[in-house]
Amino acid sequence: MKGYPHWFLRALLGAMLMMLVTGLLLAPGTLVMRAEMDLPWRLPGEARVYTAMLHAAGGFSLAAFTGSLWSLHMRAGWRRRKHRGSGLFVGSLLVLLCMSAVAVYYLGEEQAGTIAALLHLALGIALLGPFGWHWLRGYRSRRHHGPAV
Ligand code: HEM
Ligand code: HEM
Repeated sequence: MKGYPHWFLRALLGAMLMMLVTGLLLAPGTLVMRAEMDLPWRLPGEARVYTAMLHAAGGFSLAAFTGSLWSLHMRAGWRRRKHRGSGLFVGSLLVLLCMSAVAVYYLGEEQAGTIAALLHLALGIALLGPFGWHWLRGYRSRRHHGPAV
């Protein structure tokens, strides 16, 4: 990623991975408490609080990463008409994840809060495919043509 510090890509991937792992750890509790599913395992009380804390902190840093990608990476790729579709898809999913996360925070246990939490979980899992697709295509094109700046 040209124009970013050398550690940026690794930090971005680390933040993505942390969101995915902590999100998946929170998921069984969400399905049991919110969707009333009967599952054999979920994170016990205190562990869930710490995991949610890590997840929310990681979310803030991922939002900051997305902001810095917007000002350089996305605009450079957009100008060069490269990987627009997959990049836009990933960027939009991240924005929707942030919006649904705010709804999870503030709508509480109400039905609307449950809908937001399930939507947030579905968006989080849906992010995997487009992000993997964009990353692979971006990685390959960078190796062949160099970065888009
Ligand atoms: C940009 C990415 C993301 C942001 C900003 C974000 C942010 C948040 C925030 C702030 C919460 C509330 C934490 C709390 O309950 O105290 C939350 C909850 C949650 N997130 Fe995410 N998240 C993101 C990605 C993901 C991903 C990738 C997954 C799943 C693979 C996921 C699954 C969950 C689940 C299951 C909950 C618990 C919902 C509940 O029952 O209250 N999130 N997220
Ligand atoms: C309009 C939106 C976007 C466009 C047009 C775009 C375009 C591109 C292009 C052209 C590349 C090829 C390599 C390079 O030039 O650096 C690339 C790579 C990449 N993009 Fe995007 N991108 C967008 C959004 C995003 C978002 C939102 C993320 C992550 C949150 C992201 C993560 C990556 C990653 C991880 C690579 C691989 C970098 C590497 O291996 O060096 N992109 N993108």
